Amino acid sequence: MSTETTVQLDRNRIRTLIDREAARLDERTQASADMYKRARQALSGGVASSYQARDPWPIYLTTGEGAVVYDVDGNRMWDFHNGFGSMVQGHANPAIVKAVAERVALGTHFAATTEDGVFVAEELVRRWGLPRWRFLNSGSEATMDAIRIARGLTGRETIVKIFGSYHGHHDAVMVSIGVEYARIGDRENYASLPYGAGIPAAVAELTVPVPFNDAGAMERRIERLEAEDRKPACVIMEAAMMNLGVVLPEDGYLEEVREITKRRGIVLIFDEVKTGLAIAAGGATERFGVKPDMVTLAKTLGGGLPAGAVGGSEEVMSVVEDGSVYQVGTYNGNPLTMAAARASLTQVLTPEAYRHLDALNDRIVAGCEGVIARYGLPGYAIGLGAKGCVTFSPTKIVDYESFKASQDVEVTELAWLFNMNRGIFMTPGREEEWTLSVAHTDEAVDAYVQVFDEMAAELTA
Ligand SMILES: Cc1ncc(COP(=O)(O)O)c(C=O)c1O
Repeated sequence: MSTETTVQLDRNRIRTLIDREAARLDERTQASADMYKRARQALSGGVASSYQARDPWPIYLTTGEGAVVYDVDGNRMWDFHNGFGSMVQGHANPAIVKAVAERVALGTHFAATTEDGVFVAEELVRRWGLPRWRFLNSGSEATMDAIRIARGLTGRETIVKIFGSYHGHHDAVMVSIGVEYARIGDRENYASLPYGAGIPAAVAELTVPVPFNDAGAMERRIERLEAEDRKPACVIMEAAMMNLGVVLPEDGYLEEVREITKRRGIVLIFDEVKTGLAIAAGGATERFGVKPDMVTLAKTLGGGLPAGAVGGSEEVMSVVEDGSVYQVGTYNGNPLTMAAARASLTQVLTPEAYRHLDALNDRIVAGCEGVIARYGLPGYAIGLGAKGCVTFSPTKIVDYESFKASQDVEVTELAWLFNMNRGIFMTPGREEEWTLSVAHTDEAVDAYVQVFDEMAAELTA
């Protein structure tokens, strides 16, 4: 990781380039503009989810093939967004298309478990080493149920999360995410801040945030909660944060968290909605070698179909099996989703696929690091399996505070516009990272690096 800064970026120049690139993107996306005019008459804000909204209009897509997507204007783009990290298999992967096509003719929904569901659970047991699983339909459902299971098991209500982490859109975790830096409170006692309107204060207060990469701060906060008779049911966290770019755990951090939670009888949940199946066959749990009590999966699990899963130890999942916690849902284990997941796990996300993703990631990270070094940009590239990003910050980001203090919002915005105008479909938002797929090639990642090089040249000209 290189964090050497050699140039001072000219802020006026950045803003001029943003204006130029935004105008260019408007020109190239007139069919999206038209679609937006129509869409917003029926869809709130013209989109199905607020995360798809964008000013002056969203980009509407039509099709995807392997590593490529097309928008309604016919622009062809290498896809580094990949459905917020869901499409590690690539678009219309033949194995998944075949499995879904065969399954759809046999009936799409019964609300009864099919053999594919049993198989997928067996495979997740093998990959994560956690013996019991249940299925759901999204990452939010997975984290919601994991927290409920932890609460049911322990009889406690308070939960601990990492400040700045996103775990989905239900009330318990829509707390202390992307808030203004001035409001976060002091590090030892971060505030429980609802993320957006509609979150009851009473629910938000049950969620206590702590800094990432600081096991001491976590333990001290837990001690104070215990003294207040608010011992937490669980700690829910990503082993590597994936919603502030990519923030890796410092050496020994996860081991310490594991030790603290075990010693204190607190359920440790690794939210692997982004990392699971994307950074290794057995996700962050395999990659970092620390085993939590529970894992949540979604995104890559379904190969593009809505999927989620919760895995846990026998002890933790006993409250599901004895019926004291209701883990339920009409579409859980849906036959189409399970057929897609099975094909993905057996035919697509193979050891060879992870070798390919690691090699591609090494190439893109090395390419981006080369650009950073050549132009003396303040920033660094970081990669892990299918995931990675360039973080525009002169210093290493280790938690939410360092992210807020040094992330360069303008350069990140410029990078997104630059990419979109040059055939790279990238996740919008400065917290986001790229997702590679098994269909990506050297050509695809070299295209990404080439666009980054062009931007760096213009930024520093
Ligand atoms: C770490 C993490 N957990 C949970 C979620 C929620 O998943 P979903 O959007 O499928 O509900 C996300 C979504 O981005 C996520 O990144």
